[in-house]
Amino acid sequence: MPESPLIAVEHLRKEYGPPTRGNHQPVVAVRDVSFEVRPAEIVAIVGESGSGKTTVAKLLTGIELPTRGTIQFHQQQVARLRRKALQDYRRQVQIVFQDPYAALNPFNSVEYTLARPLVRHLHLGPAAVRERVRELLHIVQLTPEEDFLPKRPDELSGGQRQRVVIARAIATNPALIVADEPVSMLDVSIRSGVLQLLDTLRSEQRLAIVYITHDLLSAQLLSDRVMVMYRGSVVEEGTALDVISHPLHPYTQHLVDAIPHPKKRHQRHSRVALDLATASASATSLDTGCAYYARCPVHQDRCLEAAPAIQTVRAPSHRVACYLHEPAHDRQIQ
Ligand SMILES: Nc1ncnc2c1ncn2[C@@H]1O[C@H](COP(=O)(O)OP(=O)(O)O)[C@@H](O)[C@H]1O
Ligand SMILES: [Mg+2]
Repeated sequence: MPESPLIAVEHLRKEYGPPTRGNHQPVVAVRDVSFEVRPAEIVAIVGESGSGKTTVAKLLTGIELPTRGTIQFHQQQVARLRRKALQDYRRQVQIVFQDPYAALNPFNSVEYTLARPLVRHLHLGPAAVRERVRELLHIVQLTPEEDFLPKRPDELSGGQRQRVVIARAIATNPALIVADEPVSMLDVSIRSGVLQLLDTLRSEQRLAIVYITHDLLSAQLLSDRVMVMYRGSVVEEGTALDVISHPLHPYTQHLVDAIPHPKKRHQRHSRVALDLATASASATSLDTGCAYYARCPVHQDRCLEAAPAIQTVRAPSHRVACYLHEPAHDRQIQ
């Protein structure tokens, strides 16, 4: 029996705007997104820039409120939580942003940065704070701990800073961390160490992680399940193996195809560059039809009429939003 979900998101939608003057349409950053995360599970959200990943992160952590849809935490609607229960939710769901430089106050020492949430949220006394700060540094492998306590952000490398940010995020024993492109601003050589740390936190602290990235390869290495987003919608979801070894949606197939391969590096990089350049130019009307229509090599007329719903097409949990893979269609062509 699978464990009940830690967090369950249903029909989440986020519109920004509209501006008060003029008749501009609001930006639909997240269109209609549903998913679950179970305890100690790592779920990756993959998609190019502008697909709505950060907005999902902000909705999950309460930084932004949804325009529509619900978020349930331990089967309780977050929108209905009050006071203590809401505080507890905020403690249990923490975010790690992309940029550790911006996330840390340049004037605060590592010790102060890590002590603050312990005092504010857990009301620990000085001795317990000292002990827990050292423990956190040990967990994120900033050792010897004593050396790091007095350091300020400008005395740390990018990777060390992100480890401090992660230590602060886990300080209050959250159940879920939303990590929004946590390694994309770090040197390539230290990225895998930080991802390895997230994996260790999942297994040793039973932490669930929503890992947001535009890098399909790291999603495959780190996560149990992968959700692929395109222009505010989840177009495909499944185990990392399902999505990357048997991609069904034309956009996922394209992403998998674009994973750099040593022998074909030149050719594939140029395709990715082209795609990123055309991504914003190919905007279609966001509320009718498939958002991928303009870029899809196999689109049909009906794709413009109504967006295909995401549905399970390969047992037990591989879901895709594409008319090519409607269960009925699959049966017809067998
Ligand atoms: N505060 C905001 N106001 C208006 N539009 C926004 C805001 N934040 C994000 N957007 C727009 O919403 C869409 C999704 O953005 P975002 O969630 O940041 O995507 P990603 O993290 O995948 O790059 C983009 O078109 C972006 O320009
Ligand atoms: Mg983002």
